[in-house]
Amino acid sequence: MQLPILCSLVAFLPWCESNREPEGHGWQAARAGDSRSPCPMLNSLANHGFLPRDGQNIDSQTATSVLQDALNFDPAPFVGQIRGVMAVSSTGRNGTFNLVDLDQKPFEHDASLSRNEASSGDSLHFDPKVWAQTASHFRGRDVISIEMAARARADRVATASKTNPDFNLTEAQVSTTYAESGLYLLAFGDKTNGNARTDWVRSFFEQERLPYNQGWSKPRETISAADIGAMAKKIAAVPVGK
Ligand code: HEM
Ligand SMILES: *[C@@H]1O[C@H](CO)[C@@H](O)[C@H](O)[C@H]1NC(C)=O
Ligand SMILES: *[C@@H]1O[C@H](CO)[C@@H](O)[C@H](O)[C@H]1NC(C)=O
Repeated sequence: MQLPILCSLVAFLPWCESNREPEGHGWQAARAGDSRSPCPMLNSLANHGFLPRDGQNIDSQTATSVLQDALNFDPAPFVGQIRGVMAVSSTGRNGTFNLVDLDQKPFEHDASLSRNEASSGDSLHFDPKVWAQTASHFRGRDVISIEMAARARADRVATASKTNPDFNLTEAQVSTTYAESGLYLLAFGDKTNGNARTDWVRSFFEQERLPYNQGWSKPRETISAADIGAMAKKIAAVPVGK
C-alpha cells in the first residue's frame, strides 16, 4: 500500500505526521484582491491561513504569535518592524496593517534575493529572473550551505548595484540582507551549518508555500534573536570577492 493511503487510515503513525499540511492550514495561492508583502515568509503564512488569507487588517498580537506558533521563531526581533509598519498602515484602523504596507522603504530594500528593485516598478512580487540568479548558486545541490547562501546574496548585491542607477542599501539594510539570508537557512536548515534543504527553500520562495508536503515541520528548537545574529555574522564572514 502507498504511504499516503496508509497514512489516511492510520495517521497516528509517527512517519505519517510529516508530509502533511496541518489541519485548517492547507496552502492556497493568493487570490485577486488579497494583500501580500515583499516577505516570502509572511506571504507563506497567509497562504496557509496562519495569517488572514486576505493579508489584511493584521494586528500586532497576530503578527507576533504566528511567528512563535507556526514557525517557532521568537517574535522579539520582529517587533520593531511590526511597530514601524503600523505607523504607515493603509488600513485606516488603529493597530493593524495590510501586508502590502511592507512594500516601502525602509522595510523593502534593494538587492532582494527573489524580488526586483523598487526602481523597476515592482519590488513586491516574486520575480523568476531575479530568483534565477540566486538559485543558480544552489543548482545540483541538495542543501544550501552558509557559503552558498553568502555567494548568492553577494551576487545579487553586485548585480543590483551595477544595474540599478538608484541603488541604495543603507548600513541597516545591509545588515538586514545578511539576516534575511540567515532566516531561510534557519527555517529550513540547522542553526550551526545552515544546510537548508534546497527543495524546501525553493518551495518557500517560488510558491510561498511551507514545504510540509516535502517533510518539513517547524524547527524543534526556538530560533532566537541570537541565532539570527550568529547566522548573519557567519554569512557576512564568508569571503566572496571575485
Ligand atoms: C513579522 C515578521 C516579519 C516581517 C515584518 C518581515 C518583513 C520583511 C520584509 C519587508 C521583507 C522585504 C525585504 C526586501 O526588500 O527584500 C522581508 C524579506 C524576507 N523575509 Fe521577512 N519578515 C518577517 C518575518 C520573517 C521570518 C520569520 C522569516 C523566516 C524565514 C522571514 C524571511 C524573509 C526572507 C528570506 C526575506 C528575503 C526575501 C528576498 O530577499 O527576496 N521573514 N521580510
Ligand atoms: C492607537 O491606539 C493607541 C491606544 O488606544 C494609542 O495610544 C495610539 O496613539 C493610537 N495610534 C494611532 C495612530 O491612532
Ligand atoms: C539612501 O536611502 C536613505 C534612507 O532611505 C536616505 O536617507 C539616503 O539619503 C539615501 N542615499 C542616497 C545616496 O540616495
